[in-house]
Amino acid sequence: MKISVYHTPEEVPTDSVPDCAIAIDVLRATTTIAAAFNAGAEAVQVFSDLDKLLSESESWPALSRIRAGERGGQKVEGFDLGNSPLDHSPEQTEGKRLFMSTTNGTRCLQRIQEVPIVLTAALTTRQAVVDYLLANQPKTTWLVGSGWEGEYSLEDTVCAGAIIQRGIEQANLELASTIGNDAALAAMSLYCQWQNRLDKLLHHASHGQRLLSKDNTADINYCAQLDILDIVPIQQSPGVLVWKQT
Ligand code: MLT
Repeated sequence: MKISVYHTPEEVPTDSVPDCAIAIDVLRATTTIAAAFNAGAEAVQVFSDLDKLLSESESWPALSRIRAGERGGQKVEGFDLGNSPLDHSPEQTEGKRLFMSTTNGTRCLQRIQEVPIVLTAALTTRQAVVDYLLANQPKTTWLVGSGWEGEYSLEDTVCAGAIIQRGIEQANLELASTIGNDAALAAMSLYCQWQNRLDKLLHHASHGQRLLSKDNTADINYCAQLDILDIVPIQQSPGVLVWKQT
């Protein structure tokens, strides 16, 4: 099993396709997707375009849908929710489809949507994702950070490193047969350096700073938690994620 890391959707190679690609947006899209499934969402459908989200979700019964829109870290006017994992509770979300568009996370998912297996990961679901990879053994896996408007994000890279480090440790894998590119080893090193201070790292990160400036400390603290949800969102059809408990 070879795992490569790409810091942003823009870095993803265009001349090859892996067996599995995993979108990571710790702050906050993929953390929110996992929280929505934990609260009982029926599915999560992602869009990079807000107008397309509004028109496609129109055909869904209003009581069975949630429209979530975020730009620049803030809720888009006219949408039911923004992009906070703390918005999702069984009362709010159970049985509903989350139609979602965010600045970077949903764009990352669209970039990899032709890959045979597409998952999302967050720090909160790290162990569940590792268990999925070890059980299914895709030969090649790409961990793709969402970044911020084409730039590297610390929090996505540390999550990629956390997945690789835990996989190697749990299955006693050889470094040489697991690490697919230099960014994968660098991500693992970043995680090893910060593993006991993930909340601090997320506070230092530039998007953490952006969220703090909008009083979102609670979201950052939630997103920094490791292995709290046994959930692996998986793409069922392009842009539509589901989670089926095994
Ligand atoms: C994104 O997609 O860029 C993020 O999830 C932004 C956020 O809502 O924090």
